[in-house]
Amino acid sequence: MTVTTRTLAAAPSMLGGTIELPAYPCTHSTPRRISPWIGEPGTSGTVAVVGAGKMGLPLCGQFAGHGWRVIAVDIAPAVVDAINAGRSHVDGEPGLDELVARAHADGLLSATLDAAAAAAEADVVVLIVPVMLDDEQQPDYRYMDAAVGSVAPGLHAGSLVVFETTLPVGDTRGRFAPRLEEVTGLRSEESLLVAFSPERLYSGHALANLAQYPKLVGGLGEESRRRAAAFYGSVLDAPVVAMSSAEAAEFSKLADTTYRDVNIALANEYARYADRVGVDVQEVIAAANSQPYSHIHQPGIGVGGHCIPVYPHFLLSRAPEMELVAVSRRVNDGQIGIAIKALQKELGSLDGVDVLVLGLTYRDGVKELAYSRALPLIERLTFHGATVWACDPLLSPAEVERCAARPWTWGEPSPAKAMITQTADPLFRTIDWAWLPDLRVVYDGRNSLRTVALPESLAYHGAGVPAALRAGAR
Ligand SMILES: NC(=O)c1ccc[n+]([C@@H]2O[C@H](COP(=O)([O-])OP(=O)(O)OC[C@H]3O[C@@H](n4cnc5c(N)ncnc54)[C@H](O)[C@@H]3O)[C@@H](O)[C@H]2O)c1
Repeated sequence: MTVTTRTLAAAPSMLGGTIELPAYPCTHSTPRRISPWIGEPGTSGTVAVVGAGKMGLPLCGQFAGHGWRVIAVDIAPAVVDAINAGRSHVDGEPGLDELVARAHADGLLSATLDAAAAAAEADVVVLIVPVMLDDEQQPDYRYMDAAVGSVAPGLHAGSLVVFETTLPVGDTRGRFAPRLEEVTGLRSEESLLVAFSPERLYSGHALANLAQYPKLVGGLGEESRRRAAAFYGSVLDAPVVAMSSAEAAEFSKLADTTYRDVNIALANEYARYADRVGVDVQEVIAAANSQPYSHIHQPGIGVGGHCIPVYPHFLLSRAPEMELVAVSRRVNDGQIGIAIKALQKELGSLDGVDVLVLGLTYRDGVKELAYSRALPLIERLTFHGATVWACDPLLSPAEVERCAARPWTWGEPSPAKAMITQTADPLFRTIDWAWLPDLRVVYDGRNSLRTVALPESLAYHGAGVPAALRAGAR
């Protein structure tokens, strides 16, 4: 493993456990544009970014910001049109609007629907289209297969193709490189360079994270590895970690995300036990984490989003013997059942009961419903006969209805007898209980209301936070 060293005023702790890492400063000078680009330090070329979505567009801005000519490729005409007008179509990503506008004004960023034409012009092709799960929890390659098929006819001798989308271990070499070779007639490591470099950014912090997180790169061989590391070294300020293989880089991303899922499952089991013994799990976790080798995450109503609930299944698709990983998925998905049982404990049957769900996106502050636990929560409540109302400050009433819930307008009177917070949006802490005169029970799915004062008559359940121990609540 080779790590390009970059200096920081304060070195981050290698023990991890913090998301507040300092940013590496930019030490690049203006690069010399050359064609073809062959990885020489101080030079830049043309890069095609295939999939200009929430992750792809920040990458376009970052690459252009470091002097590369960027061609964004997308199948959505609205995305292409927005970029060609110098506009970001991605909300909630600080700095992105300005970066896209500047890159476009400088003539460094354009967009197209024509992937093959972009690949023909590019020295580097970065693929960042989603790979999700199908109904059997197996990787669903439909977008990536299509993207690979669309760029392949444009590739040429010397092209570097980098997969940034998270993939099961072995897919770069075993699934995609053979397809690229078949269509192009080029041989990997001889005339075609293929690498994997996982995207590790946190939605809403993408540009900041690009300057904070080391970039992992693994090639199919030495030349792919060297060229891919040179590319990222030229466009990123954070260190580049050139790993021994594409498989090691693929595995690293799955290891990181699955660790978090397993860790959260452990926190959820601690929370269940804490409920049973009448202890505040958050007090326990904070105390345990005061020892520097303990990094216990937070319990809650479940894990959502594109990454954490998905990638353990990528591992399991190739390594079904990983029992801990499978059990952790079940524990985390089972948290919805714990929330429903808490309501039933107070109300008995939920048949005909109005239940209000606050927060539908997979987490607060990110308008993304992918794998949000709100969706199965609503389904399960409805199955139990409840009438489900919902409110999310990031969603319109029509979007709430598409989640199979009745929209509740913040501040209006509500008939709800039960309420569940599914995200920790700070707005929910400002609730006025007078709006919900019939409310009898709250399940605090993210433990975010634990210090909010409650009416005496209201039963409170948190994830491992016994009502009696809520800090200064009543
Ligand atoms: N969203 C996150 O928080 C996050 C974080 C880290 C890593 N990632 C990685 O990034 C990948 C992409 O996630 P995202 O959030 O950017 O997705 P997204 O849905 O926001 O964007 C995907 C884009 O790809 C386009 N697209 C789909 N098929 C295409 C094709 N064949 N050719 C060209 N464009 C195509 C879509 O139109 C869309 O604009 C994920 O699968 C994951 O591996 C995502």
